[in-house]
Amino acid sequence: FEKYPVRFLWGAEEFASIPDGAVPEVAFLGRSNVGKSSILNALMAQKGMARTSSKPGRTKQMNAFSVGGARLTLLDMPGYGHGSRESWGREIMEYLRSRKQFRRAFLLIDPVHGFKEVDMMIMEAFADMGIPYQLVLSKTDKLDEPKKKRERLATPHINEVFMDVQGVMRDHGGHSGFGEILATSSEPVKKGINELRWAILRATGL
Ligand code: GTP
Ligand code: MG
Repeated sequence: FEKYPVRFLWGAEEFASIPDGAVPEVAFLGRSNVGKSSILNALMAQKGMARTSSKPGRTKQMNAFSVGGARLTLLDMPGYGHGSRESWGREIMEYLRSRKQFRRAFLLIDPVHGFKEVDMMIMEAFADMGIPYQLVLSKTDKLDEPKKKRERLATPHINEVFMDVQGVMRDHGGHSGFGEILATSSEPVKKGINELRWAILRATGL
């Protein structure tokens, strides 16, 4: 991930138009503002390669980044919710289902907010369509050090989050969900990024 230069490959709003290729792809999905673009920057060790913002809805198209000397493609998806295009959910699913070189989706969950309706819907769609996916907790630094008192009271302990996630996986995971749940943070300190890299390498057989 760090040895070769990273390259921005393409950005697309119309997913159907992107020709298939041979390079394996993994995709990062989740609600707006969950930290998809940030985790990609952490993975690629490239600040600002994928655009991030404190305002939800930053990523407005699917962006592809080439890593490892063109051996692997990482996909940054637009987030669900917050005024994102209605049809995106369906289009993204259709893309993942039909894409030959697609290997695994990483569904990001912000553990402070927990699972929302749309997360369940995505997991069920993955299961129905046989799309392989793995859950990734983002921003776990917030569990360690909630800044404000109000946050401290409302913030669950990491063990509670894991129990919750395991329960949800049992009820909604279906056959295409991989059981191992990764705990990460992209900033201010990186955590679990190497574990995520290994998961990507295992998923793609690289
Ligand atoms: P959209 O493109 O709008 O769907 O959002 P996204 O999922 O790509 O989120 P993005 O990476 O842009 O991050 C959203 C906000 O969360 C930014 O303000 C980031 O700085 C912040 N953020 C991302 N990762 C972390 C993290 O690990 N810890 C903390 N504390 N903040 C984070
Ligand atoms: Mg983004």
